[in-house]
Amino acid sequence: MDKNETYQLLLAQVKAMVKDESDPVANMANVAALIQEAFHFWWTGFYRVVNGELLLGAFQGPVACYHIAHGRGVCGTAWAERRTQVVTDVEQFPGHIACSSESKSEIVVPIYNKEHEVVAVLDIDSEKLGTFDATDQEGLEAVCQLLTETIYQ
Ligand code: SME
Repeated sequence: MDKNETYQLLLAQVKAMVKDESDPVANMANVAALIQEAFHFWWTGFYRVVNGELLLGAFQGPVACYHIAHGRGVCGTAWAERRTQVVTDVEQFPGHIACSSESKSEIVVPIYNKEHEVVAVLDIDSEKLGTFDATDQEGLEAVCQLLTETIYQ
């Protein structure tokens, strides 16, 4: 299976998984698990907007920092700019927050509610440089869109 086909399968799995459950944390926990089963990234998880900052949510991987301010790091930048951040080399990203020295590249996708506010981000770290490309962006944005349609409507 190539990467594109893996994302098609992942999307079908996410769709089936989230359709009968409305709790955001429960769904994010299983979505993180599905992404990890598909790709075995270094770290896959969610930060939710809580009290005006990003707070660590459901994830798979090593322990991570709890709080990220608006506009800080890759996650806070995705929130502030309201667009996906694809980072080929985290050392080249000004203000990158290093939760782990193993992390070399990263993608962060914003998740919106029905009022088009950012309510969370999906953050994925890789221990290799340049892991994420347009296929990952498209696939993961589709996963996050499904979360918008199911748990944030
Ligand atoms: N690197 C992220 C912080 C979160 S960890 O990668 C899990 C950032 O710069 O926002």
